[in-house]
Amino acid sequence: MKILVMGPPGAGKGSQSSRIVDDYKMPSISTGQMFRDAFNRGDEIGIEAMRFIKKGELVSDDITNEIVKRRLHEADAEDSFILDGYPRTVNQAKALDEMLDDKGTKLDAVINILSSHDVLFERMEQRRVCKQCGETYHLRFKKPEVDGVCDVCGGELYQRPDDTHESVERRLEIYETKTKPLLDYYSEQGILYSVNGMQPFDKVYADIVEILEDLS
Ligand code: AP5
Ligand code: MG
Repeated sequence: MKILVMGPPGAGKGSQSSRIVDDYKMPSISTGQMFRDAFNRGDEIGIEAMRFIKKGELVSDDITNEIVKRRLHEADAEDSFILDGYPRTVNQAKALDEMLDDKGTKLDAVINILSSHDVLFERMEQRRVCKQCGETYHLRFKKPEVDGVCDVCGGELYQRPDDTHESVERRLEIYETKTKPLLDYYSEQGILYSVNGMQPFDKVYADIVEILEDLS
C-alpha cells in the first residue's frame, strides 16, 4: 500500500502514522521529521530548513522534493510507505506523481484528518517531542510516565520551536492557502478519504483502519 496522510498542523498525522507503521510494517516518510533529524545531526540541509520551519514557513519545493525522491529509492519503501506531510503544495503533488510514475506505481489512498483550529492550537501548545527518537506526547492526552522523559528511549522531551503561537498561526494560514487545494487534486483522482481527527486517538485510528482494510 502507498498511502498519504494529510491534515492541518497538529491534526494527528504523525501519531496515526506511527500506529500504521507498527501494525502494517511499512515505513513512514515524514518530511518534517526528516528535516528535524537533519537539523539535530547538524547537516547543512537541516540547518537551512530550520530557518523556515521556526517561522512556520514552508521549506522550498526543490529541497523537499529532492529529499523525498532519495528516500523513495531506499529498499524499504519499494512496496509500501506512508507519506506524512508531503506533498504540501500542488507543485510537490505533481513532482510526487512523476516520481511514482517513474517507478511504475501510484498512491492508493489519501487519508485526510480533519480538525478545528481551536483543537489544533491546544494540541500543539501541549505537545512534547522526544529529541532522540521523535516520539510524540501530549501533556493531557498522552502523558509520559516520567515528566520530561521519553517512555520509549529515555530521551529528553522538548517543545518544538515551531509550536509557538505565532508560528502555529502562520502554519495554519499556509495550510489553508497552499495545502488545502490538494484535497481537490486527490478528490478528482477518486482516492481521497476523510476522518474526524477530533475523536480520541483509538477511534481516529479505527476509522483509518476501516479505510485501509477496504483497500486491501
Ligand atoms: P511537520 O512536522 O510535518 O508538521 P505539521 O504538518 O505542522 O504537523 P505536525 O507534526 O505539527 O502535526 P501532526 O499532524 O503530525 O500531529 P501530531 O500527531 O504530532 O512539518 C514541520 C515543518 O517542516 C513545516 O511547517 C514546514 O516548515 C516543514 N515541512 C515539512 N514538510 C514539508 C513539505 N512537504 N514542504 C515544505 N516544508 C515542509 O499530534 C499533535 C498533538 O496532538 C500531539 O501532542 C498528539 O499527542 C496530540 N494528538 C494527536 N491526535 C490526538 C487525538 N486524537 N486526541 C488527543 N490528542 C491528540
Ligand atoms: Mg507530525
